[in-house]
Amino acid sequence: MSIIDQLAAIESAALASLHDITTIDALTAWKSDYLGKTGLIAKLSRELGALAAADRPAAGQRFNAVRASLDGAFAEREATVNAAAQGHAFASEALDVTLPGRPLTVGRLHPSTRVLRMITNIFAEMGFQVWESPEVETDTLNFELLNIPADHPARDMWDTFYIETPPGAEKVLLRTHTSPGQIHAMRAHAPNPVRVILPGKCFRYEQVSTRHEMMFHQVEGIAVGTNITFSDLKGTLIGFAERLYGSGIKTRFRPSYFPFTEPSVELDVECILCSGTGCRICKHSGWLEVSGAGMVHPDVLRNGGYDPAIYSGFAFGMGPERITMLRHGIDDIRWFFSGDERFLQQFI
Ligand code: PHE
Repeated sequence: MSIIDQLAAIESAALASLHDITTIDALTAWKSDYLGKTGLIAKLSRELGALAAADRPAAGQRFNAVRASLDGAFAEREATVNAAAQGHAFASEALDVTLPGRPLTVGRLHPSTRVLRMITNIFAEMGFQVWESPEVETDTLNFELLNIPADHPARDMWDTFYIETPPGAEKVLLRTHTSPGQIHAMRAHAPNPVRVILPGKCFRYEQVSTRHEMMFHQVEGIAVGTNITFSDLKGTLIGFAERLYGSGIKTRFRPSYFPFTEPSVELDVECILCSGTGCRICKHSGWLEVSGAGMVHPDVLRNGGYDPAIYSGFAFGMGPERITMLRHGIDDIRWFFSGDERFLQQFI
């Protein structure tokens, strides 16, 4: 077979195999097989020297033409293969931009936390510092130092969770109210004046019902110094009620009894749901109880380190869950800590 015929055979084999190529790797291999330095065409061209001198120019031209034809075919095929690869990538990496998004659920503050913060902000404006005291207390701090001895009938008001302690050891309990914080705060400040609020959890061994939970919050407040009078207590609590419920809210103080305050009162505000005309939430009285309060009992002042002949003070305690229930007309305290999202989502 002449060299020209061999060249023609290589060309047609090359074009035929190129036609089936679909990958870049196979293209690269094809190029080195046919057009590379050691490829078939280069090898065959070495035999040009054996031709008669007169035949060489035409044969040379033929080689150049075949190289050009294969280069052109290669470029074309390469473009096709690249386009196919790109199309494949587009298809496999496609995003469906019409898919609806998935909304992120964002956590919010629990309604009790929000009301606690509102209350602490209001008292902060009135110059009260926030203080915390322990949830686990001794019987002495929770009761005795607050004028509630073991046989005092007022102990019935606070059904208590006791913590197991060795026989003879001091009784330890979960605080039934935040009032032991009064003693902690006074002892930390006496004989200097003190004006703090103490928010936190309280625990009672209760029959759980629509109005009673085993765990709830209270915000205690205490102010002790010289010349502190009952009108300071009234002014503070009326100022608080006006900031919480809006200025002009009607308030009243009813005589009450707590062993650790004398005199003792209960603060009522006009029912915000019926404006005082009477409804289910205010039990048709037109009034809502908001806070227990009173002047710190002389014994309690003494237990806190103040001489009652020189110092006086007032204290109050309120329940943020109760305040929230009254604000929103919630009829069951058990919603607060049941973990039911349907309840919680109403407060976002
Ligand atoms: N500790 C009382 C209660 O739990 C509330 C209170 C606090 C009353 C301070 C008077 C003064 O009911």
